[in-house]
Amino acid sequence: MKRTVIRGTGRALPSRLVTNDDLTKIMDTTDEWIRQRTGIEQRYWIPEGEEVGASDLGLEAAQKALDKAGWAAEDLDFIIFATLSPDITFPGAGCLLQAKLGLNSTPVLDIRQQCTGFLYGMATADAYIKTGLAGKVLVVGAEVHSTGLDKSTRGRDITVIFGDGAGAVCVEGIETDENVGVIASSLHADGTAADSLMLELPASRLPDRLPPDVAVDDPRYYPSMDGKKVFKKAVRKLPEVTKEVLVKAQVPLEDIDMFFPHQANLRINQAYAHFMKIDESKVFNNIQKYGNTTAASIPIALDEAMEQNLVGKKDDTILFLGLGAGLTWGGLLYRFA
Ligand code: COA
Repeated sequence: MKRTVIRGTGRALPSRLVTNDDLTKIMDTTDEWIRQRTGIEQRYWIPEGEEVGASDLGLEAAQKALDKAGWAAEDLDFIIFATLSPDITFPGAGCLLQAKLGLNSTPVLDIRQQCTGFLYGMATADAYIKTGLAGKVLVVGAEVHSTGLDKSTRGRDITVIFGDGAGAVCVEGIETDENVGVIASSLHADGTAADSLMLELPASRLPDRLPPDVAVDDPRYYPSMDGKKVFKKAVRKLPEVTKEVLVKAQVPLEDIDMFFPHQANLRINQAYAHFMKIDESKVFNNIQKYGNTTAASIPIALDEAMEQNLVGKKDDTILFLGLGAGLTWGGLLYRFA
């Protein structure tokens, strides 16, 4: 039976370290507020004044993942790129990354599922592999948030949360009778809650995409979020989707060695552990260092955990989870081969 297994992972973080104290110099916030409410201590933003897009960070992460897999870019059958912050409006960042990898005909798919983007990407890669459409797939999640945030006090609820970064995973189809690789996944979306986390302008639905009567610093040019609503939804949906995936996989909760939830808020992940009655040491968190890197957060976490030898041994079983704008959410169970 065909199975989708991970061959290499990589991550890229920009060089500019921004601490909570740095943010207190530009907006009315405190290190204490940010740590207490979110767990975040610092994040990385692209260097001021430099042109760095999601595809540039994605390229660095992808090259590391390809090196670990022992693959050349030419070996790839398919590239999947998840981001909510593409370099330019169109074409998608995946095409830009493909060109930077020195390719000019490999198919590319851009995914716009925000914090769940990597999960949608992995589930799509798995489907392509299991149906024989591709053998070797690169899945990338990458974000450059920092150039689009409201760095005044008005935008403090969102700006303190987001960090830039990229993570990449090389996956391959293998024939095996063992129950390994991507075992099950479950994806969801609720478009009726689209306005609880969104970036409204520029908008093609308007008579003028850049409305002439709207100032360039209008709040609608920056992301807006109903933080409490998203928080509550996450705390409810992440346990729900965990159960769904485990039922599909016919794997008990106790078999999971490590949980990789999207890094949106440390308190969400602690609440998840509490609700699921699992030891917090089994939940991998690195939001303290990187903030919320949206589509990049899960592959960055995986790369770090594998580097620390926390997971990666044969039969290690891990669960990826995420919820974000859309709203979208999902889970994916993976067992190392
Ligand atoms: N520094 C200091 N004070 C801040 C602040 C900041 N960075 N951001 C907001 N505040 C203030 C608010 O203005 C408010 O003040 P008020 O009581 O005088 O009106 C107070 O802190 C409480 O704000 P609130 O928004 O109710 O806080 P919260 O406890 O809900 O925490 C979030 C805010 C954003 C941290 C939290 O709601 C959250 O993490 N939500 C989920 C985010 C998420 O998962 N997103 C999905 C993935 S992207």
